[in-house]
Amino acid sequence: MFTLLLASHNQDKAKELKALLSGMNIQLLTLNDFPNIVPTIEDQDTISANAMKKAFEASLKTGLVSLADDTGLFIKALNDKPGVYSARFAGEHCSYKDNRMKVLKLMEGITNRYAEFRTCVALSAPDGIISFKIGILEGNITTEERGTNGFGYDSIFMPLSFNKTYAEMTDTEKNSISHRAKAIEAIIPIIKELIESSKGGLQ
Ligand code: IMP
Repeated sequence: MFTLLLASHNQDKAKELKALLSGMNIQLLTLNDFPNIVPTIEDQDTISANAMKKAFEASLKTGLVSLADDTGLFIKALNDKPGVYSARFAGEHCSYKDNRMKVLKLMEGITNRYAEFRTCVALSAPDGIISFKIGILEGNITTEERGTNGFGYDSIFMPLSFNKTYAEMTDTEKNSISHRAKAIEAIIPIIKELIESSKGGLQ
């Protein structure tokens, strides 16, 4: 069996990834299985560089092939903000709600509400990055919060050609169209190739 480390403590991400990898002979570990590992500092200027840094450091520290992701909400009228700073847009110890309120306030009176969620997933071995892929979902920022599911900016992001926000969708619905699912789906063939090439060898 091939062991893959998801370089994250987030159990929701692990659950989503497990569902997308089902049918493949993979044992999926997360950073919760390595409590002594110090988390990577996400200090890069782009989501791709952060994802690669997280995947590479996790791989170096564990010796396992590792997958990491980094996500941002890029709002056109705000010159692509909050972008790579999405987690702490309203300040160092802010809540998801603080971030959403800051976006809604900055967007008051703005008619062009176009935004993109972008996720980069990076795959790394201890000797370097193997690949990275980007998943994008286009949408619009609503004028008020709608829905209670999900997390982060879900209740103010309405994907294009939908009449509901991410937070008004079920998990299954969101995961079938989301930016993160698109990125993971794009990297799955690379993981499959890796498993094939390591059979009887590396793992
Ligand atoms: P991370 O890189 O996955 O930690 O995401 C950075 C920030 O983007 C999070 O703190 C959330 O505020 C936001 N975010 C990431 N993914 C999503 C999502 O699927 N829906 C809504 N917000 C998200």
